[in-house]
Amino acid sequence: MIKQAIIPLAGLGTRMLPLTSVTPKELLPINGKPNLEYILEECLEAGIKQFIFIISNRKKNIKKYFYNDKFYNKILKEKKDERIQKEVKKIKKFRKMIKFVYQNKPKGTGDAVLKCQRLISEKYFLMLLPDDLIIKKNCTKEMIKIHKQKKGSVIAAKKVPKKTVSRWGILSLKNKTKNSFQITDVIEKPKLKNAPSNFAIIGRYILPKSIMHEIKKLKPGHGKEIHITDAIKNLIYKKEKFYGNIFKGKYLDCGTLKGYINSGIEIFKV
Ligand code: G1P
Repeated sequence: MIKQAIIPLAGLGTRMLPLTSVTPKELLPINGKPNLEYILEECLEAGIKQFIFIISNRKKNIKKYFYNDKFYNKILKEKKDERIQKEVKKIKKFRKMIKFVYQNKPKGTGDAVLKCQRLISEKYFLMLLPDDLIIKKNCTKEMIKIHKQKKGSVIAAKKVPKKTVSRWGILSLKNKTKNSFQITDVIEKPKLKNAPSNFAIIGRYILPKSIMHEIKKLKPGHGKEIHITDAIKNLIYKKEKFYGNIFKGKYLDCGTLKGYINSGIEIFKV
């Protein structure tokens, strides 16, 4: 079973300044709810029991959002507002499930994963990138199903326009069916001429705990960061099985201002 989900939240959010100069981008509301809660709800529905949040000193407001009891209690004492009461109950439920670790230097997704090493207790765990929302169909559920069938690692995959390949981790594949394929290689943000396909990694990964050893061996890659993509590549070369999940839901990119605004419109329509 996949029970633990890790969520890297230490990114600086520069693409969304000035909105993110005070509020972490993961707490910015989309249709009345923080971006992050969409991710948590997807996980809850898929049976996840524990979250590990990778935050930083700059992003302590994320912890505060879940630990503001004194404030909530005072407000609720003064006015019995049913809506607030319900929200506080939800926040407390989430809080019981969350552990926090710190990544004070944004050194990449691989480095973020490594910060969770001592807390990972199962053979496989889930990682979700909060910039990537997937609505209408639960992508995490689909991935867990594939993981159970194939007994390997799973990555969410989506065909993207060819001219955008340099924005993504791009996959090489074989044995493609309607919903999945086997991954034979992966390259982080390739030039169009080096891209083996236009299937891109979207921010959902079921990874083996053994990836921690691979991350430790990595040197900084694209953009001088330690990428999870490079650790995945090395595991594939060592014959570890990785599968792509061609997910059915609708992908929303919340990492840019344009994408964030569009996400609000799309979620409003659902
Ligand atoms: C990260 C990953 C990349 C993946 C993308 C999905 O990139 O490194 O492989 O395709 O997320 O959103 P980032 O968005 O952090 O540049």
